[in-house]
Amino acid sequence: MKFTLDTTSAPEIIADCLVIGVFENAPLQGSADLIDKAGNGALQQLIDSGDIETDWKHTTMLHGLDGVAAKRILVMGCGETEKFDAVRYDNVCHSAGRFLRDHATTSAHVCLHELEAGDMDTRWRLRQAAVCMDRANYRYTATKPPKEHDNEPLLSASFNAGDEGQAALDEAQGLARGYLRSRELGNMPPNICNPAYLAQTAHEIAGSYENVSVEILEQDEMAALKMSALLAVGRGSVNGPRLIILKYDGKDESSQPIVLVGKGITFDTGGISLKAGLNMEQMKFDMGGAASVIGAFEACAKMQLAINLVCVVAAAENMPDGNAYRPGDVLTSMSGKTIEVQNTDAEGRLVLCDALTYSQRFNPYAMIDVATLTGACVVALGHHASAIMSKHDDLADELIEAGQNAIDRGWRLPLWDDYQPQLKSKFADMRNVGGMAAGSITAGCFLSRFTTDQRWAHIDCAGSTWIWGSDKGSTGRPVGLLTQYLINQA
Ligand code: BES
Ligand code: MN
Ligand code: ZN
Repeated sequence: MKFTLDTTSAPEIIADCLVIGVFENAPLQGSADLIDKAGNGALQQLIDSGDIETDWKHTTMLHGLDGVAAKRILVMGCGETEKFDAVRYDNVCHSAGRFLRDHATTSAHVCLHELEAGDMDTRWRLRQAAVCMDRANYRYTATKPPKEHDNEPLLSASFNAGDEGQAALDEAQGLARGYLRSRELGNMPPNICNPAYLAQTAHEIAGSYENVSVEILEQDEMAALKMSALLAVGRGSVNGPRLIILKYDGKDESSQPIVLVGKGITFDTGGISLKAGLNMEQMKFDMGGAASVIGAFEACAKMQLAINLVCVVAAAENMPDGNAYRPGDVLTSMSGKTIEVQNTDAEGRLVLCDALTYSQRFNPYAMIDVATLTGACVVALGHHASAIMSKHDDLADELIEAGQNAIDRGWRLPLWDDYQPQLKSKFADMRNVGGMAAGSITAGCFLSRFTTDQRWAHIDCAGSTWIWGSDKGSTGRPVGLLTQYLINQA
């Protein structure tokens, strides 16, 4: 979607639709006030008569209002001013974007960022409105082209701000691109989006942006590096595994890179420890971590942030097969540590442990892995938050703050050593499952054994990266959290 700035006053602007917000308990402000004046108080009258709902997230579409050039005005209810914080603001922007998408609007002029929201400044409100417009207008079309009667999505949004708003819109373009990439990859069916497809996508990204390079490792190269844990997971599939490495150089060589590591299981059947059939198709989203680190990487490249960034994706398909790895197998990871496989469905940690060991060669400033690692994470936090685990309080705080800023929130779980004994094995240095209790944490504990002293955090996005239900599909999360973290580091 194209974002532009336009300071034409609200009553005069020419657009398919003009978007304004009104509070329940405050007089009309800014553009809403101008529209009301242009129409000799018509807007206020509609509010007073109850024809316009001012409750939070309520929407009213007005047509042909006196004194206003735009054909339609979308009035977003914002509720009470005291309750109107960043999250409520984000929700209003999202609802507005969705309403426009579903009501044949191709161009909109958006004035929502005029509304005070918590302690967020205008620049943030502008950026967030733009990102929301874009995200809310997403429609999956890769394997289901739009029907003729489907509305065209919103193609352009202009915002009532001057040149000082450009930086906010540039950031929004980066975030929007990242989210889109992540969602497209997530939604793509697993017979198309396999490890080779992820690798090809990385190639395309490398070809599209300045300062980006790519390297793909296949089976032989991974075998030479002794990545036996990652290779074991991929062994049951005819779609061989890949280790995908994207590099972005936005700063001089001496600056340590941030390394993002993604779990890219393009389909998780559970392997020999086969999952139950019901809802198994959801496991195409098991590359959500990979999709989000690739998305955040692309956002960074699009914005040309002044950082060095490496993105490592461990891509494999977890299938049952005569050649598949089995429960009871003992694997020697790239680190040299041995792992007793107790359940082949705990495969994410196995591909990630080798990817984490590999990533140490970049001497990371910070290393963050992102994975749909545990069903237990969905039980703990539901679909609203990603789980953040780290022994480094400063890094955990930075990630939580970034998530709050992007309204793509994370919540911390402890990684205390108290949980480590659950991973004890009679036959190897550790086993790949930690039992019933604290499943997300013991998965994090497992990964911690493959990091050394670098600043490292683990993000479990099992609940946040896709939603099931009427709006089913990938959310692209946690691209917002990750990208905001990168922006903050630049
Ligand atoms: N990809 C799954 C985790 C998952 C399950 C994410 C459901 C979202 C929804 C992961 O590979 C897995 O199967 N984990 C097991 C681990 C267990 C065997 C220790 C799980 O969570 O059941
Ligand atoms: Mn699994
Ligand atoms: Zn999995």
